[in-house]
Amino acid sequence: MKLTNTNKNAEGSVCWKSPSNIALVKYWGKHGIQLPINPSISITLRESVTTTGIDFQHTDAGKGPEIDFFFENKPAPDFGKRIQKFLESQVEQYPVIQNLQMVIRSSNTFPHSSGIASSASAFSALALDIVTIARNYSGAKPERDFYNEVSELARLGSGSASRSVYGGYAVWGGMKEYPEYSDNYAVPVSTSIHKNFQEIQDAILIVNAGTKKVGSSAGHNLMNNHPFAQARVQQANKHMLELHKILSTGDTERFIEIVENEALSLHGLMLSSNPGYFLFEENTIRIIERIRAFRQSSKIPVCFTLDAGPNVHLLYPGSNKVEVVEWIGNELLTFCHNQKWIDDGMGKGPVQLK
Ligand code: DP6
Repeated sequence: MKLTNTNKNAEGSVCWKSPSNIALVKYWGKHGIQLPINPSISITLRESVTTTGIDFQHTDAGKGPEIDFFFENKPAPDFGKRIQKFLESQVEQYPVIQNLQMVIRSSNTFPHSSGIASSASAFSALALDIVTIARNYSGAKPERDFYNEVSELARLGSGSASRSVYGGYAVWGGMKEYPEYSDNYAVPVSTSIHKNFQEIQDAILIVNAGTKKVGSSAGHNLMNNHPFAQARVQQANKHMLELHKILSTGDTERFIEIVENEALSLHGLMLSSNPGYFLFEENTIRIIERIRAFRQSSKIPVCFTLDAGPNVHLLYPGSNKVEVVEWIGNELLTFCHNQKWIDDGMGKGPVQLK
């Protein structure tokens, strides 16, 4: 859908708060314009969120978009350039932004240097703002669902951001068994969710608060010509199919096997890339071992997943929160950077503030 800039008095403010997400089946490898080599599924988080507001006004310059970007109330020209480039690439689709002067202010609930992937929350919040502006000021009648359109725009900024647009579980990437899924945008998961998986908690254990060793685009590129690429795509598709069944039947044991296998496979792919990277650290392994031992001794279905970094996402049912939080304090915080962890869990998705 092309939107035209018909409103010369475009002026106003828009602000959305949008969460990060953690993938259960990982997106790893892309082709073309931000298209995934395999489908992925994630849980949208509740606490790790980005709030991005845009104050905008019409300018006749048409040289478009003019951006001043502030991160946590300070000018952030480097981030600003990335956003400028991204918005410039969207001018054909959203001509209205070509004539806008924008002051963009963004902040995260999690510290920038906490090692939490912020591109998912950042680009989903930005895409929510941009599509809101385009719809309010273009004068064109929207042809598609708002969140569907936002998800596609967010994907073009950062693949995983496409999934942050929805609460609960979201899927990005086509599957022949589910024609509603697409490589172009994410949608909410199609299956019904068993009560075992409705209130998943995510304790994010910060092993290293530094920035990522390998940027995500460079990481995805490692999958080009990777010797295991074909097997990986098959594995991810198989996991997606099985996870759909498990999410509706409530098979916790198999859920844990798949989720942990996905995390270790992701890191296995990085280890066997050329060049090879190990992004986990000693304390990542220590925590994983403790999680497995605690699962056996307590019979509480805790499990781990990892992003492309050393921090551990400890997933567990909300009904076990008291015991799990006590155990985190007693056994796991010693392996965390400055004893730091984030008490997160499944959330309801983005919220419009302005
Ligand atoms: C390991 O979405 O950060 O977290 O599309 O290049 O911005 P870009 O990559 P990004 O990759 C996320 C990879 C992952 C797995 C996942 O979230 O599915």
